[in-house]
Amino acid sequence: MTDIIIAIDGPAASGKSTTAARVARVLGYNHLNSGLLYRGITWAAMVEDWPSDETRFNRSLADLSLELERVGSGYRVLVDGVDPGVNLVSPATSARVSEVSARPEVRDRVLSLLRAEGGHGGVVCDGRDIGTVVFPTAELKIFLIASAEERGRRRLLDHGLEVSDEAVSQEAARLAARDAADSSRSASPLREAPDAVRVDTTEMDAGEVVRRIVSLARDRGATVG
Ligand code: CDP
Repeated sequence: MTDIIIAIDGPAASGKSTTAARVARVLGYNHLNSGLLYRGITWAAMVEDWPSDETRFNRSLADLSLELERVGSGYRVLVDGVDPGVNLVSPATSARVSEVSARPEVRDRVLSLLRAEGGHGGVVCDGRDIGTVVFPTAELKIFLIASAEERGRRRLLDHGLEVSDEAVSQEAARLAARDAADSSRSASPLREAPDAVRVDTTEMDAGEVVRRIVSLARDRGATVG
């Protein structure tokens, strides 16, 4: 059995985590959601009110304990020993996460955790820079996209919110602002790897996307677990 590395990157709410979790279950792999680590650090910085100047921010970061704990085929993130739960995906955390994850020291911290946990293969890792920076030799790289409106609609549904035209366009604007920040930063920006397979999920259901990626994974040597 070959345990490959599958990197799934793409803009906000393009379906990376849901897809990655399902692909991991089909293949008997683990699912590493890198966004949760950035969200964990962001949550700590907010709750503890870390100063923004680089030296003091980095001191707080160095004092922070950040761990990945296996739960089934996924992981939970422990921040100073605590699982922040839904706080990781709250609108407040989402509004700050791009600014925190643009810091090189934050990226280094997350990079080493991801490589230590996923470097041996048998992993589906999703994020923004997985195929370009974290696992540049991954056997399969996917770049998942969907229209801004569809991503806005999906995010509202995820959060159990009402899906009106106005709410969709407001959510789409928030996602677009985060994508712009993630794409324009100098440290590991959101970027499609040259050897990635681009999958547009706007008109695909989740099952179709999963089947497509599993089939590509088989072509690259993965055996179904
Ligand atoms: O699920 P969603 O698309 O909202 O985002 P996420 O994967 O939870 O990532 C949240 C944020 O973390 C992104 O907007 C990026 O700012 C940052 N991130 C990153 O910089 N690099 C990654 N590999 C993953 C996430």
